Amino acid sequence: MRIAVVGSGYVGLVAGACFADLGHEVILVDNDEQKLAALQNGQVPIHEKFLPELLERHRGRRLTFSGDLHAAVQASNAIFIAVGTPPTEQGHADLSYVESVARAIPSAINGYKVVVEKSTVPVYTSDWIRKIILRNAAAPDSFDVASNPEFLREGTAVTDFLYPDRIVVGADNERCAAVLREIYAPLTDGSYYQRQDAIPQPDRAQIPPPLIVTSTKSAELIKHASNAFLAMKISFINAVASVCESVGANVQQVCQGIGSDSRIGPRFLNPGIGYGGSCFPKDLKAFRAVAHESGYEFRLLDEVMQINEEQRRRFLRKVRSALWTLRGKRLAVLGLAFKGGTDDIRESPAIMLVQTLLQEGCRIATYDPAAHERAREVLNSSVDFADNPYHAAHGADALLILTEWDEFATLDLQRLHRELKYPIVIDGRNLYDPELMVAQGFTYYSIGRPAVSPESHPLEAGTSTGAFGK
Ligand SMILES: NC(=O)c1ccc[n+]([C@@H]2O[C@H](COP(=O)([O-])OP(=O)(O)OC[C@H]3O[C@@H](n4cnc5c(N)ncnc54)[C@H](O)[C@@H]3O)[C@@H](O)[C@H]2O)c1
Repeated sequence: MRIAVVGSGYVGLVAGACFADLGHEVILVDNDEQKLAALQNGQVPIHEKFLPELLERHRGRRLTFSGDLHAAVQASNAIFIAVGTPPTEQGHADLSYVESVARAIPSAINGYKVVVEKSTVPVYTSDWIRKIILRNAAAPDSFDVASNPEFLREGTAVTDFLYPDRIVVGADNERCAAVLREIYAPLTDGSYYQRQDAIPQPDRAQIPPPLIVTSTKSAELIKHASNAFLAMKISFINAVASVCESVGANVQQVCQGIGSDSRIGPRFLNPGIGYGGSCFPKDLKAFRAVAHESGYEFRLLDEVMQINEEQRRRFLRKVRSALWTLRGKRLAVLGLAFKGGTDDIRESPAIMLVQTLLQEGCRIATYDPAAHERAREVLNSSVDFADNPYHAAHGADALLILTEWDEFATLDLQRLHRELKYPIVIDGRNLYDPELMVAQGFTYYSIGRPAVSPESHPLEAGTSTGAFGK
């Protein structure tokens, strides 16, 4: 298949590289000249495991980069639109980038084309794309519009794409569905997984993945409903964590108890400082807005969003209760990315907390394995960027863990203790066992579990069971 992918951001670049790995001829189109030049010069603009290998494998062969959308459409059977859909001030998805791509397609149609929504878009977008293409003089049978939502997660994007739980194809006729079936055939017939050079299979992958064909509207809704459900799971467990804190219970034990129910499952039951990133916050708002417009008030989503914001405020209160006043305090902050494994800081709760702590007069030294470059653009010189966790901790009044990077869960605790001015750790991601921390001499605060301190253990009385552990 010959494929154009329009937009070479987190989704487009990963999708393009993976399609090339499945054996297709891919043209990645972007209108950001700097990004294009970087890609053409062999740079990898985002931090994503296995992406450098795939780009190296296919760049200049099955994968080319171009700013010429017209030529890319002419050369392709399928055009995947993977441009951004940021929120407007009213919370709707801004579809102007999608529309501008749709407007450029008709003049390049030189045979049957399938235009595929890869970006996350509200229901009815496919109808609009079709209208726009028809308005610009394309023949009705010269193209179809399909929805193929993307479920990859930053940090594990390549393996998520190649080993998906499912592939959703929204298509309103068989001719169109057949094109997408063919594109994904190396995954659905399992042939990709037989290859010696296949990207290694992650834990939990079920191969081959099912391909679910739905109407385009259902596919559009599946993406919004999935993200809303996952965000709801996060807010739910954060709300449970708050109750645990009030009564002295341990949320990790509660998670184990409820997550082992196969109807619930353990994933996305990780209490923390709330969700962030470029997807959940905007997709929830957009889903809320589209439901409202269609006559349904989806108030559950309001509550999910509110709990998420409250979670950051609760964490700030925890910092205050650990340190009393904040002005002039020196804090070490581990993690700036919105989650581990990525350099993406869009809507990162860690960045929002750092900004608030700066406003409160704290001085901050921070370390993130991948996000310094992007974080510098928003934090400027207001924080010190350290080159490892221990340098960030040196002389600090307390250490805050804000992103669940693997390396933050395996710190040399003795060294950390020596570096900190006071051995206080406030863990927004529950990476450590409180028993272990107190045994190592730390005063340790986490989410949904009693705070502990070597002097008085546990620190907060409550009705602690005394049984800790993750
Ligand atoms: N990031 C994720 O984890 C994720 C996961 C699933 C779905 N999505 C959805 O995928 C879409 C893209 O997200 P992203 O994170 O990759 O965004 P991004 O901002 O990283 O990338 C978008 C790219 O599109 C390019 N672009 C914009 N207008 C263009 C045009 N007219 N022609 C060519 N290129 C253009 C931009 O230059 C940019 O490189 C969004 O709708 C998002 O909600 C994202």
